[in-house]
Amino acid sequence: MHKISDPKEMQRYSLEEKRQGHTVGLVPTMGYFHAGHLSLMRRARQECDRVVVSLFVNPLQFGPQEDLARYPRDLGRDAALAAQEGVDVLFLPEVEAIYPPGYATYVEVTGLTEPLCGRYRPGHFRGVTTVVAKLFNLVQPDVAYFGQKDYQQAVVVARMTADLGWPLRLVICPTVREADGLAASSRNVYLNAEERRQAVCLYQALEAGKQAIAAGARRAQEVVRVMAEVIARYPLARIEYAEVRRAGDLATMEELRGEVVLALAVWLGQTRLIDNAVVEVG
Ligand code: PAF
Repeated sequence: MHKISDPKEMQRYSLEEKRQGHTVGLVPTMGYFHAGHLSLMRRARQECDRVVVSLFVNPLQFGPQEDLARYPRDLGRDAALAAQEGVDVLFLPEVEAIYPPGYATYVEVTGLTEPLCGRYRPGHFRGVTTVVAKLFNLVQPDVAYFGQKDYQQAVVVARMTADLGWPLRLVICPTVREADGLAASSRNVYLNAEERRQAVCLYQALEAGKQAIAAGARRAQEVVRVMAEVIARYPLARIEYAEVRRAGDLATMEELRGEVVLALAVWLGQTRLIDNAVVEVG
C-alpha cells in the first residue's frame, strides 16, 4: 500500500491509473477506522481496480466548541487495517496542503444543509462539501463510497455531485452496527461504560419508530413521540433532534407516505451520536 501526502502526487497517481484504463474508487474518511469504514473499503475493493482511502481530519467541518482537538487518531492502526483490506493508496494530506495560506474557496449546498444536523452544527456541511469537492478533484474517483449513518451528508454530497457535474458514481453503504444495534462511529470511543450501555437508545428508538409505522402510524409527530418516549427511558440521553422527513430531499411531512427517513441526534454525556433509518411507508 502506498502512502501519499502530497495532493499533487495524489492527483498524478490517479490520472495515470485512469490513463491506463483503471477505475479508481475513493473512500473519504477522517480515520480511526471502525467496521463501517472497513465495509466501505471492502465494497470499493470489490468494485474498483484501484482503491484510495483518504484520511484527513477536516478542521473546516468542526465548530469552535466541537471535538476537533480530541478527535481520535491512530495512524499506525489505521494503516494496518487499510493494508489488510487491500487498499492501494492511503492519502494523508496535511491541513496546510489542503488549506494553504490564502485559501479562499468554499463549496456550499443550500437548503438541504439547513435542517437536522445543519441546524445544530452551523458551517459543518460547508466544511464537508468543501473538502469532499477537493478530494474529488485530487483523487478523480470513478466511484466514491459513503456510509448511510451520515444520511444527511450523503444527500448533500449527492446534490453537490449532481449540481457540479462530477462524472462519478456515489455508493451509499448500509450502516454497520454493533451487536446491540449501536451504529459504528469513531466517536463511540468517547463513551464511558454506562453511556455506552445507554447509547443503544438510538437504535431502539428507530426500531420503535419503524414498528409504529408498520403498525399503521402515518403522522410524523406520532412517530417522533414514539422515538422520544424510548429515549426518555435512558437517563443519560438528551435528544438534540428527533424527526421524520421525506427521504432524498429532507422535506418536512405531516402525513407520511413514500420513502421517509427517521433521523436522530442524541447526546450521551459529552458525546453526540447520530443515527437514522430509511423506511418505505406502505
Ligand atoms: O464522514 C466523514 O468521515 C467526513 O465527513 C468526510 C466525508 C470524510 C469529510 O471530511
